[in-house]
Formats: sequence, structure tokens, C-alpha cells
Amino acid sequence: MDDRISVWVGDITTLKVDAIVNAANPQLAGGGGVDGAIHRAAGAEQLQQACRQIGGCATGQAVLTPAFKLPAKAIIHTVGPVWQGGQNNEAQLLRSCYSESLILAVKEGFRSVAFPAISCGVYGYPVQQAVPLACEEVERCLESFLMIKKVVFVCFDEAMAQCYESQLASMD
Ligand code: AR6
Repeated sequence: MDDRISVWVGDITTLKVDAIVNAANPQLAGGGGVDGAIHRAAGAEQLQQACRQIGGCATGQAVLTPAFKLPAKAIIHTVGPVWQGGQNNEAQLLRSCYSESLILAVKEGFRSVAFPAISCGVYGYPVQQAVPLACEEVERCLESFLMIKKVVFVCFDEAMAQCYESQLASMD
């Protein structure tokens, strides 16, 4: 495992990193889950205005806004795929969420990025498939993105953290 990758249990909105990643929807309209938490903590009005100016984000892509009241410097909004059984390009789209977010981070000169478990909540992606994919894709990207010094997988509960820990351990 790349020693720049770590797992942390808690609320992503509290992290003082260069960018936190939001699991957004294509309209960037805000919603529940981590998206709702980020909008509330950043300041819903300002963040919604910034999102409206961008207009939207395709599934698998990523866009950037300021982080307003958050301790992070910026928010990278990415849109995960809705799980439809696995035959609708979900894996490639989820992979793309991680790589596009990191590409954007590199473009901005960011050195630390925190990811939630994209698509693993409302969008229904099976955790047992999403976690290996997330770990492998981030590790693959970090091989070329040497300027990124820290990637944190933020988990809302211990069970999810265990899943990441054992996946990362198996990649040693
Ligand atoms: N910090 C870290 N992780 C969190 C937090 C938090 N504050 N809150 C929830 N999680 P979800 P999705 C975890 O549903 O599946 C929204 O309505 C959560 O336990 O937030 O990509 C959007 O607007 C889960 O493991 O994102 C979209 O419409 C993970 O974050 C839709 O949901 C992702 O769950 C996106 O669905």
C-alpha cells in the first residue's frame, strides 16, 4: 500500500485538507448524505450559488468550488454512478470519479485530498465492490501524481473503515 493513503472514521466536513471530495448529484443541487452535510457545514447559500454558476457535472466527472466555511481549502464535487446491477458502466464511472478528482487536485496544486465512499450510500453501489476499486484507482493515480502527499478515505462508520483497511493491507 502507498503510505500516502490512510483511512479515518468521522465527518469529512471537519477535515483540514486542501480538498474534500463531495459525492454530488449531476445537478449539483445538494441533497442528503455527505452532500447534505457538506452543504450545511460550508454554508448552504454560498455553496449553492457557486454550484449554480457551474451548472452541473456529468457522472464520473469532477468540478471545483471554494469550501467557504469549511476548514478545507476547496470542495471537489464528483458524481458517482447510481448502481443498476453492474452492467451499465458503473465500475468505469466510479473509477473515473477518483481519477478525475485527483487530476483536478493536481491541476490546483493541492497536496492533500479526502474522499468519502462515493456512490456507497443513496446510490447503492455495493461496498464490497466499491472499496477495492477506490483503493486500486487511487493507488494507480498516486504512482504518477507525486505532488499529492496525502489521500484520506473518510468512513462514516467502523465497518466501512475495516473494509478499506483490509483492502489496503491486501495490496501490500
Ligand atoms: N462524512 C463522511 N462520510 C459520510 C458523511 C460525512 N459527513 N455523511 C455520509 N457519509 P451518500 P452517494 C457516507 O449517500 O451514494 C446525495 O443526496 C455515507 O455513509 O452521501 O454517492 C447526493 O445529492 C456513505 O458511505 O452518496 C446524491 O443525490 C458515503 O458517505 C446522492 O446522495 C456516500 O453516501 C449521492 O449518493
